[in-house]
Amino acid sequence: MELDEAIKGRRSIRKYKKGAVIPREDLEAMIEAATWAPSSTNVQPWRFILVTQRELIAQMAQAVFDRFQELSKRAYEAGEKRVAAFCRFMRSYGGFFGEASAVIVACTERYDISRFGLDEYALMAKVKELGGPSLEASLIRTVEKSVVMAVQNLLLKAHELGYGACVMDSPLVIEDELRQMLDISEEQQLVMVIPLGVPAQKPQPPERIPVSEVRRYV
Ligand SMILES: Cc1cc2nc3c(=O)[nH]c(=O)nc-3n(C[C@H](O)[C@H](O)[C@H](O)COP(=O)(O)O)c2cc1C
Repeated sequence: MELDEAIKGRRSIRKYKKGAVIPREDLEAMIEAATWAPSSTNVQPWRFILVTQRELIAQMAQAVFDRFQELSKRAYEAGEKRVAAFCRFMRSYGGFFGEASAVIVACTERYDISRFGLDEYALMAKVKELGGPSLEASLIRTVEKSVVMAVQNLLLKAHELGYGACVMDSPLVIEDELRQMLDISEEQQLVMVIPLGVPAQKPQPPERIPVSEVRRYV
């Protein structure tokens, strides 16, 4: 697939053909594409959990829906109508993926700098003691950025293979439940949830802010 077609033709797909199965080799090809992303000091902190059990996928989506439903109810009862409206919107923005053929949960490991004989928090504290800057962006948040870059590769590969995917973070509202359901250790941080399937919709590309409005030369 030509690069511009891949970049511009990829869409967030939220409706999937019921019962379609994604062969394991296609899932592996997506993960392989993900692993070619850049990462800070090539630490490759990404870890992917591939969920293909339909019942589990439906359960995950329902749990997201229920959580926002409950929050919406609580907000409404507290007279917070705008918060309630937001949570009602999030029920479907976060909980639509019950019929996806697969869900990939992209996680990150902590930044491994053990070769310096320190962990990242100890290093940050020492630099601070020395009157230096906060290194949070390059020691803590850096791994999440690397995972997000890998996820974009994954999305493009899924698109090339003819699948529809939607990258999501609203399901993280049930992070604790997801950890339990999928047996994710506290050592890993959840970054993105990506339902996948054979597309049952062909959405129009959402409008983009023109280049002239998003760039500034210095
Ligand atoms: C960080 C991030 C979080 C997102 N979370 C959700 C989500 O929770 N639910 C959803 O339906 N889409 C989610 N999306 C998809 C966006 O809605 C979508 O990318 C955007 O509307 C542009 O559409 P396109 O992907 O088709 O170009 C998310 C995208 C990003 C980058």
